[in-house]
Amino acid sequence: MQLDDIDRVGVVGAGTMGNGIAQVAAASGYDVVMRDVEQQFVSAGFDDIDESLGRLVARDELTRSEADRARDRIEGTTDLADLSDCDLVVEAVTEDMDVKQSVFEDLSVTCRTETVLATNTSTLSITTIASVVDRPERVLGLHFMNPVPVMKGVEVVVGEKTGTDTLTLGHAFAKDLGKETWEADDKPGFVVNRVLMPWINEGIRAYDEGVAGMADIDRGLTLGTNVPMGPLELADHIGLDVVLDASETLHEELGDRYKPAYLLKRKVAAGDLGKKTGTGFYEYE
Ligand code: 3HC
Repeated sequence: MQLDDIDRVGVVGAGTMGNGIAQVAAASGYDVVMRDVEQQFVSAGFDDIDESLGRLVARDELTRSEADRARDRIEGTTDLADLSDCDLVVEAVTEDMDVKQSVFEDLSVTCRTETVLATNTSTLSITTIASVVDRPERVLGLHFMNPVPVMKGVEVVVGEKTGTDTLTLGHAFAKDLGKETWEADDKPGFVVNRVLMPWINEGIRAYDEGVAGMADIDRGLTLGTNVPMGPLELADHIGLDVVLDASETLHEELGDRYKPAYLLKRKVAAGDLGKKTGTGFYEYE
């Protein structure tokens, strides 16, 4: 299959990553089917898309009519069978191996054998996810960054059985969405989260151990290393539960240098998950 053969894209999961992927695919001219398990999650996904398209229109990156056309190209559903005629599917459900494998088992029954099946996992093994399907050569990682409509990079992850054609198509598809790509082997955390998660955890530990206040740690890193957000702000932006999940996987696979910060675990236990709950390291309106 070539890039030209991809007309219809499926997205499984309408959360932050899923709705962002659906939006950029639709804005690039693909017909998109976005699926979540309950209608309320699909509707919340569309609310995010409307808001994000509005921001892109406000800063002249899209015209109102381009935004409307993109919106009209996205169909919402709670039925995975509606993805049966998709040429490429990106899974963006919760970071849980059992849940992901169950989605891939269903996709391998629902979709045609030539359909490319991508996972947006941030740290889990592509090879293990692909082990439940009948065409592991058609499976790869397409790891988008949050917020998807703004971030330019997509990490293309190569599983043990990922085919060369699938890989070429993965790069071409991401580029067609206006993204730039790099390639990583299927090792825990790939490139980005393997390096990013210890950076975030060290920022949290530095705060907890009294090296500096939260704002000073974030200012130190933004002003001192020219990144857009310091580690505590970025943790709030990503979601502290997501950071903890990723850190725990890395810790389990790669050992003690990836141990999650104690304060991160305490915040998650308290239900303070960052921007999405209104409280994380900082407070949000
Ligand atoms: N849709 C459309 N536009 C958006 C948007 C969205 N979802 N989110 C932000 N924007 C736009 C805003 O409208 C704004 O446009 P303007 O400059 O014309 O007003 C612009 O982006 C900047 O946004 P804000 O003014 O709200 O705030 P910032 O200037 O702080 O930018 C940010 C926000 C783009 C998130 C920036 O701070 C940033 O790049 N932060 C780092 C994000 C990052 O590192 N992401 C990767 C995390 S790792 C990951 O995702 C992997 C995973 O596996 C954990």
